[in-house]
Amino acid sequence: MPKSVSPSPTGADGSPAAPNGATAPDWWASAVFYQVYPRSFADTDGNGVGDLEGVRSRLDYLQLLGVDALWLSPFFRSPMADHGYDVSDPRDVDPVFGTLADFDALVRDAHERNIKITVDVVPNHFSDQHPWFQDALSAAPGSAERERFIFREGKGEDGAQPPNNWPSVFGGPAWTRVPDGQWYLHLFAPEQPDLNWDNTEVIVEFADIFRFWLERGVDGFRIDVAHGMAKPAGLPDLDLPPEGASLTDQIEGDLRWDQDGVHEIHRGFRKVLDAFPGTMAIGEAWVPDDERLALYVRPDELHLTFNFELVTARWGATEFRSAITSSMAALAKVGAPCSWVLSNHDVDRHVTRYGGGSVGAARGRAAALLQLALPGAAYIYQGDELGLENVDLPDWALQDPTWKRSGHTERGRDGERVPIPWDGASPPYGFSSAATTWLPMPADWGPHTVESQLGDADSVLSLYRLALELRRSEPDLRTRAFGWQGAPEGCLAFRRGPQFVCAANFGAEPVAMPPGEVLLSSAHSASSVADGMLAPNTTVWLRA
Ligand code: GLC
Repeated sequence: MPKSVSPSPTGADGSPAAPNGATAPDWWASAVFYQVYPRSFADTDGNGVGDLEGVRSRLDYLQLLGVDALWLSPFFRSPMADHGYDVSDPRDVDPVFGTLADFDALVRDAHERNIKITVDVVPNHFSDQHPWFQDALSAAPGSAERERFIFREGKGEDGAQPPNNWPSVFGGPAWTRVPDGQWYLHLFAPEQPDLNWDNTEVIVEFADIFRFWLERGVDGFRIDVAHGMAKPAGLPDLDLPPEGASLTDQIEGDLRWDQDGVHEIHRGFRKVLDAFPGTMAIGEAWVPDDERLALYVRPDELHLTFNFELVTARWGATEFRSAITSSMAALAKVGAPCSWVLSNHDVDRHVTRYGGGSVGAARGRAAALLQLALPGAAYIYQGDELGLENVDLPDWALQDPTWKRSGHTERGRDGERVPIPWDGASPPYGFSSAATTWLPMPADWGPHTVESQLGDADSVLSLYRLALELRRSEPDLRTRAFGWQGAPEGCLAFRRGPQFVCAANFGAEPVAMPPGEVLLSSAHSASSVADGMLAPNTTVWLRA
């Protein structure tokens, strides 16, 4: 019966966190960030691909939703081999997304609404079409141009074998041979050559890229592959994990990632940001444990790092409790807040991960209230607030490089990147004026559109709006206080200060609700909370 978990040591001091949307220098510590994947958000020029004007045209919606900041996935000049994560000019907007003037207008209009703008920086690699790589290809082995990347001689007779056995994340070897016989490293697609962070030119170039966007008014950055830039000396072979290994087992001891040398690079980034008070950076670091993760947010490194534990945790009270406890304990040791994530453009949407259909939907709503009740920052991926599921796309529609490079065995990430449905009853649901969108939209998304959910008090969108409003208005939620409460088997409950309690039932049977006034329930209002019971797959916010 009630299992008591000792209060977490993390942040139980009740010290006030920055109010959301405020201009406090550490606004980011408790902010709700909304991830915009620009290709799929809103298309204003009718080419079936979203653009920056599309984001600007929907700022009223984002304000109504109640988010504090946007994170824009890459909109820089790119040949789009990895949909913008292959950058050929990091100081310009790709024509498919608009112009620098569009970007400036977006920053201005967002700031007028008190919404901050953060942008992606991709320091692990450039596009193979970036002038630096083109120069490297036409320069000789050993030249300064090649030194900006990772070129090596191959192994075996005539150097015909790759320099080591590293695989690329997208399938196939992480090395590609150039006509003069050398090989270059690409941890991702061949169109994404890795930069050599032992080269001062690279360091200076990225400091300048940061400053370019800071001077245009951005409030922060999301650092792509923050655990990837430093490579181990001598580039030794890997002990490859067995087929089907878990994500943690795959990255445990994988020399491609999380080398200690990466922290010096982040210290350098931090120095640049410190010259622009109130700006921040969050790292995308997939590392095997929270102790390693905490190293990225030491006081002289990044401000935040994604806590992916809620992405990897399976639906269940024990897994969620230990994910939360371990994240908070590790980051508290270095004095950093957590940044909670349920979904992003790289992972299956959480409603799908939780089983999809009505059960997945109920769990998705419950997970959202859990995520948003935790102390720290929260990242919402576009469409989370609409309860979207992954889309099962036909083979012909797949575009993620993973599909091709895996020899059509892994479908990749397109299913979570389908454009946002805004209004109407059939594709493209107001996303675009074009009949064909870059990824096809399903025929049954009518009930999921923003328009239909805005008018429905029971919708996922209404739940998010209410939750974000309470996050701002409930005094306890504006502190960093946190402590576990006893909860029945299959449930968890935590307190945020003297009054606010969040309780979730992951089990199959209803349980008695903890005492208090229900502020918000993830259950549809039809399945009322009046009987004093907490239904399965439900989270409630209570004032005790
Ligand atoms: C990050 C991005 C992902 C991209 C990869 C290579 O993991 O989130 O979308 O493919 O980096 O840049």
